[in-house]
Amino acid sequence: MLNRRGVIIAVAALAVSFSGGAFRLHAQEPVSLTGHIKSDDEGLMEGVAVSARRAGSNMTLTVISNEKGVYAFPQNRLEANQYSITVRAVGYDLASPVTVAVSPQSPATLDLQLRKLSDISSQLTNAEWLMSVPGTQQQKNGVSGCVSCHTLQRIFKSGHDADEFVQVMVRMAGYAPGSNPLKPQRRVDQIEPIKPERFRKQAEWLAAVNLSSVSKWEYPLKTLPRPIGRATRVMITEYDLPRKVAMPHDVIVDVSGTAWYSDFGSQYLGKLDPRTGKVTEYPIPEFKSGFPQGSLDIEIDKDGSIWQGMMLQGGIVKFDPRTEKFHTFPLSPNINSDVAQQAMVMPASFTVDGKVWMNNVGIRGIHRLDLASGKFETFRPYQALGLGSGGMDTGGHSVYGIAADSKNNLYFMDFGSENIGRVDAQTGRIKLLPTPTRDSHPRRGHMDVEDRLWFAEYLADKVAMLDTKNEKFTEWAVPTKWTWPYDVVPDKNGDLWTGSMSSDRIVRLNPKTGQVVEYLLPRSTNVRRVFVDNSTTPVTFWVGNNNGASVIKLEPLD
Ligand code: HEC
Repeated sequence: MLNRRGVIIAVAALAVSFSGGAFRLHAQEPVSLTGHIKSDDEGLMEGVAVSARRAGSNMTLTVISNEKGVYAFPQNRLEANQYSITVRAVGYDLASPVTVAVSPQSPATLDLQLRKLSDISSQLTNAEWLMSVPGTQQQKNGVSGCVSCHTLQRIFKSGHDADEFVQVMVRMAGYAPGSNPLKPQRRVDQIEPIKPERFRKQAEWLAAVNLSSVSKWEYPLKTLPRPIGRATRVMITEYDLPRKVAMPHDVIVDVSGTAWYSDFGSQYLGKLDPRTGKVTEYPIPEFKSGFPQGSLDIEIDKDGSIWQGMMLQGGIVKFDPRTEKFHTFPLSPNINSDVAQQAMVMPASFTVDGKVWMNNVGIRGIHRLDLASGKFETFRPYQALGLGSGGMDTGGHSVYGIAADSKNNLYFMDFGSENIGRVDAQTGRIKLLPTPTRDSHPRRGHMDVEDRLWFAEYLADKVAMLDTKNEKFTEWAVPTKWTWPYDVVPDKNGDLWTGSMSSDRIVRLNPKTGQVVEYLLPRSTNVRRVFVDNSTTPVTFWVGNNNGASVIKLEPLD
C-alpha cells in the first residue's frame, strides 16, 4: 500500500531531522522531497535506490535511503514539477506507479511502502545469476563475453537445449562488437572461423541450468546485499540519450565540465551538457561502407582535441571542439584488412614525437601513426616474441587497452591472457610483464602523471597498478565475486574507482586502508570505461550505460 501524503513540513524541521543521522545533506540544506521506505518484511529499509524523473525530461535523479529508512532529495536538485518515482531494491518493488508534485516552496513528503516479489528473476544482476547458478569457475567465466551485448537473464531464462544453444552461440559469434539486441550488427569477416562443436561443452552446461527441462530453477536465486552506510551517501543522475540505440561506451569530461561519449554501435560523437541534459551528436563519416559502425575509445589530447578509435571502420578520428570539424585517419590500404579494428587510440603523449598509437584487435597488434607524414607502422608483439604468427594463432593473447607513458612508450593490456606489454617508442623493442595473478585478463587502463599504469584484471576480480619505473605490480581485490571490473582510475585523493560489468555496482577502493564502498546504480548498467572528474569536491564519477543508452553521473556526498 502506498501512503502518499501531501504534507507540507517546514524546511527547518526537516533539516534538523537529518542533521543527526548518517545522511550527509548539510543541516542547512533544504530538501524538496523526502520520506520513509518500508516493507512488511523488513520495516524501515536502508539501501533502497529511489529515483525521481521529471515529466518530459531526460534526467533521472537517484538517492539511496539511509539506515533510518529515510530518503531525501536536496531542494536545489529537483525543480518544481511532476516527478515519477521508481525504486531499486532486489526482491521488492512499488505496489503501483507513483508520481509526486515537487515545489521548492513546499517540500513534499512521500512515504513508500514496498511489496515483496514472489518472482525476482527479472531483477537479478549478472553477478547474482552467477552466484546462484551451479557450475565451475571455468563454466561461469565462459559467459563473461556474453555480458558485452546483453544481460545473462536471457540466457538463464531461455528454454534452449544443448543443440539449440550451439546454434545460438554460433549466431552470437557472428555479431560484431557494437551490437546489442536493439541494434544487431553482423561481422563482415570473422576473426576466427566458427566451428560449432567448440561451443558444445558450454552449451550442455547452459542447457542444464536454464529452463529447458524444468519450469522453475532448482537452485535458489541468491542476491547481493543492498548498500549500507557510506554507500548510501551518494546522488546519481542518469541522462537518457535521444537515440535509444546509442551505446555510450566511453564517457569523459573536459575542463569546461562538458561530457563527451563515444557510440559503440553508430557513427556519432556525443556531447552532453550536464547542467541542462542537452545532448548534441556529431555524425562521423563512414570509412568503410557496409562494415559495422561505431567507436570505442575516446581520448582528449593536450590541445583539447578529441580522438576516437573507429573499430571495424578501420582507423581513427580527431575532432576539434572549437571548429566542430572531424579530421579522419583511415588505415592505409596495405594494413586495412577486413579484420582491422581500432578499439583504442592513444594520443596522450603525441607532443613527444608527433606519433599517435592505436591497437588493431583483428591482428592482435598495434599501429603507430606519424601525424606529419601520415605513415602507419605495425607492431605484432606476440609474433615478435615467437608466440605465433601474429595472426589468429597467437594462443589467447590479445591487445586491448593501451596507454602511453610520458615518453610515448606504449603499454598494452593482454586481455586474452595475463600480461602487460610494452613497446619502446625509440627502438620498437617489445616485452611482456606477467601480472602476479595468473589468468588475470587485464582489460582497460590508464597512465597517471607519475607513469604508473592503473588497470583492471577482469576475470581476476582485481584492480592493479604497474609502476613503469621499476616494473613492480600491486594488486587489490574487489570484494564481490563476479564483479568483472572493466577499467579503473585513481582520483585526486588516491581512491581507486572501478565499475562492474555484471553487478551494476561502482566500486571505490582506498588502497591505503583497503576500505571499499560499493555504490548500487539505479538500473541495469553495462559499465565500460570509468572516468573521475577531479575538479569537484568530492570528486564526480562518470560512466556510460553502454547497452542502456544513458550517461551516468555519480556524486558521492563524501
Ligand atoms: C556481440 C554481441 C553479442 C554477444 C557477445 C552475445 N550475444 Fe546473445 N544476442 C545478441 C543479439 C543482437 C541478440 C538478439 C538477436 C538474436 O537473437 O540473434 C541476442 C540474443 C540472445 C539470446 C535470446 C535469443 C534466443 O535465440 O534465445 C540468447 C539466449 C543469447 N543471445 C545468448 C548468448 C550467449 C550464451 C552468449 C555468450 C556465449 C551471447 N548471447 C553473446 C548479441 C550478442
